[in-house]
Amino acid sequence: MATLLVMLGSQLSVRSDLPLSSPLPGTGQLAPAAWLPRPSDLDLGGSWRFALWPSAAEAPADPAAFRETEASDIRVPGHWVLQGHGAPAYTNVQYPFPVDPPHPPDGNPTAIYQRTVWIDELPEQARLRFDGIDGAATIWWNDTLLGSTRGSRLPAVFSLDDSLRVGENVLTVRVSQWSAASYLEDQDMWWMPGIFRAVTLQSLPAQAIDDVFVHADYDHESGGGVLRVEVRSDADAVIDVPSLGIAEHPAGVELSLAGIRPWSPDDPVLHELRVRTDRDEVVLKVGFRRVSIDGGSLRVNGTPVRLSGVNRHEHDPDLGRAVPIATARAELELMKRHNINAVRTSHYPPDPRFLELTDELGLFVIDEGDLETHGFELNGWRRNPSDDPMWLPAFLDRVERLVERDKNHPSVIIWSLGNEAGTGRNLAAMSEWIHGRDPSRPVHYEGDRDGAYTDIGSAMYLSSADLDAVGAGSLPPGAKPGSPAGAPERPFLLCEFAHAMGTGPGGLSEYQAAIDGHPRIAGAFVWEWIEHGLRQRLADGSVRLAYGGDFGELVHDGNFVIDGLVSPDREPRPGLADVAAVFSPIGLALDGTELTVTNRYHGRTTEGLEATLAVVDLDTDGVAGDEPPVSQQILIPLLAPGESATVQLPAELSLDSGVPRLLTVSVAQAHATAWAPAGHEIAWVQAELPGSGATSQPGSASSASSAASIAASSAASAEALSGPTTFGVGRFDASGRLTQVGDIPIHDFGLRFWRAPTDNDFGTPWDGDDQRSDAQRWTDAGLDRLQARTTEYSVAGDELVVGTRYGVISSDRGIDSMLRWSRTEAGVLALDVEVAPFGEWHVPWPRIGLGFRLPGEFGDVRWFGLGPGAAYPDTGQGARLGWHSMPIDDLQVPNIRPQENGSRGGLRRLALLASQTALQIDGHGLAFSARPWSDAALEAADHLEDLRPDESTHVHVDFARHGIGTAACGPGVLPQHRLEPARYSYAVTFRAVPAL
Ligand code: GAL
Repeated sequence: MATLLVMLGSQLSVRSDLPLSSPLPGTGQLAPAAWLPRPSDLDLGGSWRFALWPSAAEAPADPAAFRETEASDIRVPGHWVLQGHGAPAYTNVQYPFPVDPPHPPDGNPTAIYQRTVWIDELPEQARLRFDGIDGAATIWWNDTLLGSTRGSRLPAVFSLDDSLRVGENVLTVRVSQWSAASYLEDQDMWWMPGIFRAVTLQSLPAQAIDDVFVHADYDHESGGGVLRVEVRSDADAVIDVPSLGIAEHPAGVELSLAGIRPWSPDDPVLHELRVRTDRDEVVLKVGFRRVSIDGGSLRVNGTPVRLSGVNRHEHDPDLGRAVPIATARAELELMKRHNINAVRTSHYPPDPRFLELTDELGLFVIDEGDLETHGFELNGWRRNPSDDPMWLPAFLDRVERLVERDKNHPSVIIWSLGNEAGTGRNLAAMSEWIHGRDPSRPVHYEGDRDGAYTDIGSAMYLSSADLDAVGAGSLPPGAKPGSPAGAPERPFLLCEFAHAMGTGPGGLSEYQAAIDGHPRIAGAFVWEWIEHGLRQRLADGSVRLAYGGDFGELVHDGNFVIDGLVSPDREPRPGLADVAAVFSPIGLALDGTELTVTNRYHGRTTEGLEATLAVVDLDTDGVAGDEPPVSQQILIPLLAPGESATVQLPAELSLDSGVPRLLTVSVAQAHATAWAPAGHEIAWVQAELPGSGATSQPGSASSASSAASIAASSAASAEALSGPTTFGVGRFDASGRLTQVGDIPIHDFGLRFWRAPTDNDFGTPWDGDDQRSDAQRWTDAGLDRLQARTTEYSVAGDELVVGTRYGVISSDRGIDSMLRWSRTEAGVLALDVEVAPFGEWHVPWPRIGLGFRLPGEFGDVRWFGLGPGAAYPDTGQGARLGWHSMPIDDLQVPNIRPQENGSRGGLRRLALLASQTALQIDGHGLAFSARPWSDAALEAADHLEDLRPDESTHVHVDFARHGIGTAACGPGVLPQHRLEPARYSYAVTFRAVPAL
């Protein structure tokens, strides 16, 4: 193939193809530079000619050969595997090919893309820009080889000067899925080749602006800014910043500016900067801010940051990583509405337009390099590219293209070298290069455990207790004693935590307490923002959201790619409301009549926030009536970031009135922002005032930790029962199981201890001593195969007693229970429940509760308790106490892999509603779930679409539940949220009432 040397700007570049086995970076490209779009840019997206071959050897070698080939059409940008050619494949750590670096396998899907471009008039110079080609590409313009690309999520820019012609031009791109570069791109995501980001033709004058580097510093002590704009161009450049009164200022000459309003996520002030030469002009947005590390804290503009972040992959269920910019904007607005103030662009630089949005909407960004070699870990890190000099040019190329592209964005406050690439000299060299080129931002890389070459300590999935210890000065786990990682001046963050897979994440409050407790902890990033399910049409025409293995992959990692706070279609999962609550920038504590407000914003006061106090009276059961709450505006004190103040609530609403009351304070933004309307809620808190009157505690759940077994029999006068019986408004079958309340039929009534395991139940807790998951321990202990034996069934006056022993098949272990029914109140069946373990139990139980089935016409619920979303013992920070109602269908969380979900805690009253009648259940500290399918169906299903309503409503009323934790990847359920086997007692009432 022809090789041509061309002088391009300051860079000497070789126009040649690159063998797929070469570990070197791409060829023929212009020097990396900032992305500088011009209005005259020509978007080459659209329909291209396309064909695919199973190997590089079979594909045509050049454009001429391709012209003879039969081809179809394909959409650019896009992935070919999502457009009917081949299939996507999902792996997490493992490479889907032999680890034989730097060689790719022969089986290497290779495509050729081609399109024509009409040129009316030759520009003085022209450039062809690719924002992202997944795979290794070779590019020709009019059959002239331009060069090649490596680095799927990085830009590649080629000069077209000697190959452009007036009239029809032909652009040809040959893409191989695998190359040596694939060893550097082992991120936990779908393998999806193709030209998936924009392709742009830029026509420019001869002496164009090649690059701009904006330095916009802010000094929080003086309130002034310093602006210096470096321009790379053969012509002299000047700058204008109209909003600051700067005009025709020579580029490169520093300007000191007084009275600057700095950029922060809470006040993302941007100024338009025009950079001009005689013949060229580019427009950028500039924000003034300073990132520093001081006193062990990561600071922006002098203020310690509290990064309340998420890890964001680019994902769309139909388009893969070709995410439209309007979608990205909607995602960022959704994040802002949920108090998320930071994004880690895991694990590659995002679409360049994304950073314009984070600048504008106000989010801190950890901008991460396109680098991961995790699969080498499975081979003991042997031949890991990170420490092999052969790969140094590729590592440096990747970091240069990241930094040069994104250096002008105020939202980018940290550079991250990449993810899970072990450690080694090439990573250290990347960091050194950044420190030379852009000393204004610290360098992050989680794999640098000893802090040898980065500036910020980082870890993944530490427990909240370990995070707390690091905050207090302990050496981070995995760091060598005496290494820089232990230095007190080094800030620390969790680049990943709270693995949001399936039901969960549990334990957010404990993490946030650790973060807020230590200025050294800069914050944490939830893993992850979005679930990567892909919409798949099956042979029978049905459609489902697919995960690993659904495309027939030889090796895959199942549903580990479905672990986000939002669904692939960006529908919030319950965890998102919890994140909004714990990440809230306004801390509220309500203690009787006093409200303490803490301003945790980074860059704004509490001005512009308004607060409302809503008060409802509770009845003696702790339940509110139907009257609307009495509401009143309350004044929020004016607080600077970091300040707290306590205010007295209006006495007439909050003082003891004799009856118990529920107080809710809600803080909202008074004015619309770019991401939410006026009145959008930022924070809320609730508290109950007990009142002085006597309150009954019907059905309060209590627990006794004594392991003593349950009293074996009831009163001496008891009459043993042997057949079905009527007792008050209840009917019972021959085994003493409730079969009817009033005229409502009840099926399969009994105690339940099992749940359809969640993804977290299936994970091995990182902080446990046991190598087994909770789900495995449950099945090992036999909790999924309990058999019941009635030990007592008798009546004595107003008490009906049913004793049941639940024994584990093949074991002498089990759970004894005693249900004591009473009918002292007309129309009400009251139930006292006692359970106690017998034999050896060394595992927490999933739940203790009642389960039964109602006819499917009971299709709605109304409850007083936590809601509207799910709340387990360690989740539900976003759920609040009050009346909620919804159809049973809406209680379900449509998890892509079905599992236990949607349980509502803090329950005091539940009405299961049919059109005429309702089953009402009262108690304290209960939880419920109701589903149109059984737990067995939930457990057996692999995909949401496998679940079918079975014409019954399956109800759980739980007395106690095991927490959720995050053991799918991280620590298990915290001790305080575990349901340990012990003797417990509870109470609850049933009645049939007319439906409202
Ligand atoms: C981390 C990794 C992420 C993801 C996560 C588990 O180790 O950095 O990319 O794999 O675990 O979902």
